[in-house]
Amino acid sequence: MLQLKQKFEQAGQAHVFKFFDELDDSQKKALVEQLEMVDLQELDYLNKTLVFAENTETGIDFEKLIPAPYAPLPEDKNTDTKWLEAKKVGEDAIKAGKLAAFVVAGGQGTRLGFNAPKGLYKVTPVKEKSLFQVFAEKILSASKKYGVSIPWIVMTSHINNKATVEFFEENNYFGLNKNDVIFFKQGLMPAVDLNGKIILEEKGKIAMTPDGHGGCLRGMVRSGAIAELKKRGIECVSYFQVDNPLVDIIDPYFVGFHLLGKSEMSSKMIAKAYPLEKVGHFCMLNDKLTVVEYSDLPNEYQEQTDENGKLKFIAGSVAIHIVDVNFIEKLGSSQKDEDRLPFHRANKKIPFVNDNGECVKPEKPNGVKFEMFVFDALPMAKNPVIIEGFRGDEFSPVKNAEGLDSPLTCKNHQKAQWRRWFANAGVEIEADAEGIPSINIEVSPMFATNQADFTKAWNELPSKPSIADNLYLQ
Ligand code: UTP
Repeated sequence: MLQLKQKFEQAGQAHVFKFFDELDDSQKKALVEQLEMVDLQELDYLNKTLVFAENTETGIDFEKLIPAPYAPLPEDKNTDTKWLEAKKVGEDAIKAGKLAAFVVAGGQGTRLGFNAPKGLYKVTPVKEKSLFQVFAEKILSASKKYGVSIPWIVMTSHINNKATVEFFEENNYFGLNKNDVIFFKQGLMPAVDLNGKIILEEKGKIAMTPDGHGGCLRGMVRSGAIAELKKRGIECVSYFQVDNPLVDIIDPYFVGFHLLGKSEMSSKMIAKAYPLEKVGHFCMLNDKLTVVEYSDLPNEYQEQTDENGKLKFIAGSVAIHIVDVNFIEKLGSSQKDEDRLPFHRANKKIPFVNDNGECVKPEKPNGVKFEMFVFDALPMAKNPVIIEGFRGDEFSPVKNAEGLDSPLTCKNHQKAQWRRWFANAGVEIEADAEGIPSINIEVSPMFATNQADFTKAWNELPSKPSIADNLYLQ
């Protein structure tokens, strides 16, 4: 205990013990446990480089930035030789049990303002299935299709792990084999005030926040999840975020491109919907693939067009990747700076106790949270591959309570996808100009997870349901 106090004194963080003598034994124990988790050396480095640093410029020479190459969607995936070859390679790998699914669900979802882990949010239009149920059914349906068990890694945080695991338990793992769902908690980082001092959230508790989705790499290693995957013969994981029910989790084309390209980390790109869309941009910088966030890329670059009037930096990043298990292990366990993901700072409103020991909820950002981003691994990956995805079949996240990327837009996009599948299978459903059907419909992932499987399943239905409001295909 004395040693711990000394360490914090030497690091200029002795204030965390300010109310220590007022705490009861269990509170003291809890605070000590928290403090023991803090890497003071790392924190000192982050304070110097991110909190006190005068220069907050990105350091990117925009003149050297060029759009990253990608495999564009062909007119028809089912006749294009290259895409067909990728599909075959991907299917073989999936059938051989080399792929696992991996969702990062450790975020705090503050923008949605939902009082539970985001994966519990009811997202589908007819059955009101939760995000976790949608993903579970997609994985279950792929397991059945390929005749193989597909493990699913779920990254949670210390804050939402218990509620997440309980939800899976209560729902009997949505039909998945319990042993195939592997949870682990991501790491936490202390939050500091604008002077680099660790924030005391309560008298006996420091403010700790999840270390960003990039924390999944070291989290996978530290928790033993990687060792478990290797034991099961898994070679790569399909990485996705908890907020996007449209994601095609088990996509043989994507897996095939990744394997054929001998890539350590691959990505799906979606063509930006408009020049200033708030997504990261896939770019090449000094021969390295890198994602430049919209907030870092000046508007003039976001708006640049080529000689045909097409956006030059068109490739938007939507956080869908295939990542090699060995690559995760290398980055997640490395002590070398060149192999480790950098931290970024985010200014946040963080509740704190004032000098009188009263809890205060700040009105404006008063502190800094440190986060790693998974796409920062791309410049370190060998042969990174990017393929194009069709937005309507891949991406509609639930981020905000209202407006753009909200539950309403997401429901509409799900319905529009299924209406399109119906239309291509020869069944017309009335819709508005954006393709959103006039009736409420839902297709279970157990029925189909893509157009080709939908058409097949529909054609094989012995008796077709009538097309009416609240139609549900399962
Ligand atoms: P977001 O960037 O949307 O952050 O996360 P968030 O914390 O969920 O939401 P806001 O910003 O507070 O509204 C994108 C994905 O990364 C995961 C999230 O769960 C989501 O799937 N994530 C984010 C983590 O797993 N851990 C983190 O520390 C941060």
